[in-house]
Amino acid sequence: MKIDLVTIFPGILDGPFRESMIQRAVDKGLVEINLVDLRSYTHDRHRQVDDTPYGGGYGMILKPEPLFEAVEDLRNRSGPGESRVILLTPQGNLFNQGFAWRLAEEKHLILICGRYEGVDERVRTSLVDEEISIGDFVLTGGELAAAVVVDAVVRLLPGFIAEEASENESFTGSLLEHPHYTRPPVFRGMEVPSVLLSGNHGEIARWRRQQSLKRTFERRSDLLDQAELSPDDKLYLETIKNQES
Ligand code: ADE
Repeated sequence: MKIDLVTIFPGILDGPFRESMIQRAVDKGLVEINLVDLRSYTHDRHRQVDDTPYGGGYGMILKPEPLFEAVEDLRNRSGPGESRVILLTPQGNLFNQGFAWRLAEEKHLILICGRYEGVDERVRTSLVDEEISIGDFVLTGGELAAAVVVDAVVRLLPGFIAEEASENESFTGSLLEHPHYTRPPVFRGMEVPSVLLSGNHGEIARWRRQQSLKRTFERRSDLLDQAELSPDDKLYLETIKNQES
């Protein structure tokens, strides 16, 4: 996979991709990540990427010319129809794990980091395939949102982590994860549940499933509506509900 990030602040994105697991994915050749400075697609002396809004009002708007030129240049470097152009904006569709899985199938992502009060509407209507928001809050720009999206997508690429690990985790099957413990078995009087030390894999799997169900019920019961539940799961949920009432 190739990911191009179009931004006027490449420095913001330097850190997140030059450290830890994402850097390892780059080193392994699973993904190529390019920071593209929007100003390199300007032609005037001031390298102007934004301008005041027509009709008046507060703030600056990203101009269409450099964005169109940048995206067209980046798109031409892939085969026809092989790139997906995404704008990070609080007005976009809400990002979630399903979204991440879908993007992980793409060959070439071009992420445009919005800035200031917005981008010229013609960028939205004629350049961008999809708009993504990472949550109902407003950041100063799309860079940190793009970093979140890239992180969530790259860790799903084949070869990044054991497939089993990403399939078992929160949200994939619409349940939150069970609690985790590591050594020591007793810490400041707090004990690891004995079932985890039992070596009985059947019992451990059952305990984990029930803990996932319990945690999801307590924290995010909305997720249970989409979860695939076995008759045993349903029975267990009934037991917890009855205990509560
Ligand atoms: N840019 C500013 N706020 C944002 C958000 N919540 N999601 C994506 N891009 C943004």
